Amino acid sequence: MQFAAILAGGSGVRMGNPSKPKQFFYLGDRPILVHTLEKFCAAGCFDGILVLTPGTWIQQTKDIVKKFCPQYADSIAVIAGGAERNDTIMNAIAYFESKCQADDDAIIVTHDAVRPFVSLRIIEDNIAAALKYGACDTVVPATDTIVESQNGEVISSIPNRSILYQGQTPQSFNMRDLKETLQSLSAEESAILTDACKAFVLRGKDVALVRGDVANIKITYPQDLRVAESMLGA
Ligand code: CTP
Repeated sequence: MQFAAILAGGSGVRMGNPSKPKQFFYLGDRPILVHTLEKFCAAGCFDGILVLTPGTWIQQTKDIVKKFCPQYADSIAVIAGGAERNDTIMNAIAYFESKCQADDDAIIVTHDAVRPFVSLRIIEDNIAAALKYGACDTVVPATDTIVESQNGEVISSIPNRSILYQGQTPQSFNMRDLKETLQSLSAEESAILTDACKAFVLRGKDVALVRGDVANIKITYPQDLRVAESMLGA
């Protein structure tokens, strides 16, 4: 079984409009979230697609799904996300386990709602890699030189760029293993986690690399939305 969790539970502080999370901003003629959802619906390979949204946005999200994705509305569920991104993922796992009879071999593909340019190829490669390795991360080779500074004042090291990658999403996992891994974290470990793949790495588990795409941008700041608008017509 294969499940998709569209992570739309953030508040978009860096976008500068906390009254409206960025995933609900329009990109062209429909919300960013809808562009993303369309990619997962069109893939046609999921036993369930779940949107996780801020608690106060559940009804609006359901209305958006009904309005913009009427042909898929019955197969898309909407529930509340959690306080942190990994809490949102745990809510997704709990939903698929309780409502979709997910078995031990089930795969979960987790994707940022604010990466609307994900491709079918990336989704399919994620499923294949998660089946083969148990966990995978979508990445592109680092283009800028990455500089490390321990104190924020002077450089402590400059790692060799040829072995560095930038993480994107989707990140995909054997769902049972993801649940056990996230549950195994101490409070200190959870605090330093920026994403679910890091939990696997912390536990010494393999995370396969899936080739991403420079077009698979994340909309974080207002200028990213302008870039996304220009990419729509391209
Ligand atoms: N996300 C989520 N649940 C959270 C936090 C984030 O589902 N508790 C989702 C966001 O909605 C987004 C994705 O994770 O689709 C990537 O996170 P990010 O870009 O950091 O989004 P925000 O947390 O909304 O942004 P900011 O940090 O600027 O507030």
